[in-house]
Amino acid sequence: MENTKPCKLLVTGGLGFIGSNFVRYMLNKYPDYELVNLDKVTYAGIPENLADVEADPRYRFVKGDITDEQTVNRIFEAGVDAVINFAAETHVDRSISNPSQFVITDVYGTYVLLEAARKFGVKRFIQISTDEVYGEAIDSPCLETGPLMPKSPYAASKAGADRLAYSYFTTFEVPVVITRCGNNFGPYQYPEKLISLLITNAIEDKPLPIYGDGQNRRDWIYVTDHCRALDTILHAEGIAGEVFNVGARQERTNLEIAHLILELLGKPRQLLTFVTDRPGHVRRHAVDVEKIKQKLGWQADTSFETGMQLTLQWYKEHQAWWRNIKTGEFLAYYRKHYGLN
Ligand code: NAD
Ligand code: DAU
Repeated sequence: MENTKPCKLLVTGGLGFIGSNFVRYMLNKYPDYELVNLDKVTYAGIPENLADVEADPRYRFVKGDITDEQTVNRIFEAGVDAVINFAAETHVDRSISNPSQFVITDVYGTYVLLEAARKFGVKRFIQISTDEVYGEAIDSPCLETGPLMPKSPYAASKAGADRLAYSYFTTFEVPVVITRCGNNFGPYQYPEKLISLLITNAIEDKPLPIYGDGQNRRDWIYVTDHCRALDTILHAEGIAGEVFNVGARQERTNLEIAHLILELLGKPRQLLTFVTDRPGHVRRHAVDVEKIKQKLGWQADTSFETGMQLTLQWYKEHQAWWRNIKTGEFLAYYRKHYGLN
């Protein structure tokens, strides 16, 4: 998309973890941009995540569902230059216990946004896909051209949305770009995900639940690096219809991460608790990031260790934020899922 200002962005799912980091990043970087955040405010959409930008005249929040055509069309009628579609059900475990909303939001919701983009026209549509669409990275990090073998209902729904978005490029010439990022970590991550759960449990001296043998590996990226990659992709020219992996090539086993968190917080390893494994648990996710490096000149610049220091500091300093979340719906889910208190 050409960098013509001012620019009107539709960000969906902006009250979630990555979306809220992205909205703040863009408002800070581009004084002339206007952002509309369409978010349903599910359990994972936390209004406090963007409380600091609520009064900014360049930012508008719309409470609504991406599956609701009327709401989506109304936003497009007012003018949208580019869409960044973060909105999704995102937690793999929840997709195993209750898949339906994943299919509805992640697939049908993406369809509604793509239809609006086709009808009203946009300069760019970034579909935030995920490295989970590849399934196992067996011998080496997955390439953009590799097969999609998603293993959970979450990953399969995201793969459906990923390919649907591509079809809107090939069939209707909607200028779609698809990103497949690895595991993000950093401030504002809902404390159901591995790193945010382990940090907050460790601070509370609660057990740290580890699935299986703890040897599953993920490819971790600090969230601000991901936001920077999306900014690069939003403004790059000549990439419509392409897929870009995004990652920092920082693979860690879950057990390595748990040990590091306990060490940095000065807590005992006795807090580690091995629990029943996740069904269909992917052993290794990892993405090859040469394409985005070579073609767009982007690469991550926050090391895993620096990112962990920043993240730990943030969770230590924002205890009201996560303690408030770790009540009600979260506690009910947590107790049922882990059988822990
Ligand atoms: P999150 O769960 O923290 O936030 C999701 C947001 O989407 C919430 O604010 C929620 O209210 C909103 N939402 C859900 N359903 C909606 C609907 N029907 N209509 C409008 N809003 C809705 O998610 P996240 O971890 O920030 O992930 C954001 C995106 O990035 C997702 O598409 C996810 O698949 C993708 N992704 C995440 C990671 C990761 O490590 N977190 C990695 C790669 C890709
Ligand atoms: O790879 C990108 C994906 O990363 C995103 O698309 C997803 O939206 C995001 O949730 C994340 O999926 P994961 O399943 O990899 O993240 P999660 O934090 O749930 O789990 C990370 C690893 O930690 C995984 O191997 C499972 C393990 N785990 C997780 C939890 C919550 C545990 O051992 N114990 C736990 O309690």
